[in-house]
Amino acid sequence: MTTTVKRLILTNNEKQQIRGLLNEIIKEPEMANQYSFMEKAVLYAQELPRSIRKEFYDFKRREEFSALLISSNPVLADGAGPTPSRHIELDDDYRLNDANILHGLYGSLLGEGIGFTSQRGGSLYNNIVPFPGYSETANSSAGSVLDFGFHVEDAFHPARPEYLGLACMRNDERAATIISSIDGINLSTEEIQVLFEARFKIPHNPIHSTSDIIEENAQTILFGHSDAPYVKINAATLNIEEYHGIERQALEKLLYHFSENRIALVLEPADCVFIDNYRCVHARDSFKANYGDNARWLSRVVFASSLRKSRAMRNSVGTRAINA
Ligand SMILES: [Fe+2]
Repeated sequence: MTTTVKRLILTNNEKQQIRGLLNEIIKEPEMANQYSFMEKAVLYAQELPRSIRKEFYDFKRREEFSALLISSNPVLADGAGPTPSRHIELDDDYRLNDANILHGLYGSLLGEGIGFTSQRGGSLYNNIVPFPGYSETANSSAGSVLDFGFHVEDAFHPARPEYLGLACMRNDERAATIISSIDGINLSTEEIQVLFEARFKIPHNPIHSTSDIIEENAQTILFGHSDAPYVKINAATLNIEEYHGIERQALEKLLYHFSENRIALVLEPADCVFIDNYRCVHARDSFKANYGDNARWLSRVVFASSLRKSRAMRNSVGTRAINA
C-alpha cells in the first residue's frame, strides 16, 4: 500500500496546551475574522506543543506519508451548530469557530493559507456542504449523488497548493474522503517522459468561476523529479477518449494505480486532515446526504509553502487571493 495516513493521537497534556492557546486567541474578537486570523496564524502556530510541530515538520520534510490526521481535537465541545444552508464564508460577518482556528493553526505549520479570486471571492475557508439544488452536479463540493472523481486540488493552476486541509464539523452520513498516492507508480521511461510534457488538458472544477487566464489545455501531468514524480491531474473531468497511443497508455496506468491504491477516510467531528496535494489525488464517492441542519459539513483550507511564488498572480502583497 503506497497511500499511508499518519494518525496523531493527542495526549491529555497536548490537548490542554492546545486548548489554552485557542482560548487566548478566541479572546481577541478580530481573530474570528478569517483574514485577520490568517495573518496571525503562522505566529500563533509556533505556540502549539513542540511534539506536534515536529510531526508536521516531518510530514512536510520527509514526504513519507500521504496525509496527516489529527483526531479528538479539543474543539467543538458544544457541537458545531447547525450545518449552514449557504456559503456563509461570503458574509462580511462570517466568524470562525474553534475547529476552524485550530485547523488554520495546524495548516500554518505547513505553509500559508491561500484562496483564489475565482473561488468564493478569494475566501480562505470554504465550507463543503451538500445542497439539494446541486445533488446531481458533477464534481461539485455541494454534490452528493454522483461520485466526485480523483483530482488534485486546484490542479489546473500553476499556484496550486501543496497541502489540502479539511476539518470535519459533522459527518453523520459517514461519507468517506478518498485519498490515493502516486508513490510506487510503475511507468516506463517513455511513459514518464510523455507525462512530463505539456500535452494534456487539466480543466478546473465548478467551484472555480475562472476568468480564463490560466492555460488549461497544454499542461504536464507529472512534475518534480522523474524518479519520484509529483502529480497534477483532474481525472474527474478527464476525457480519456481524447488521448491515443503512449499518452493514453500512460494516463490509463496512472488512473489504474490510483484506483488500486485508494484508501477511504471517514472523518469524525473535530478531525483535521492534511493531504499532500503534490503526491496525492483525492475524491468523494456518492453518498445519501442528510440535507439541512444535520448535513455533512467539512471546512477546507489549502496551504502553499510560499506566498512569494504566487506574487505575480496576486494583486497586492497583502492579499492571499491568487488570480484565477
Ligand atoms: Fe477537492
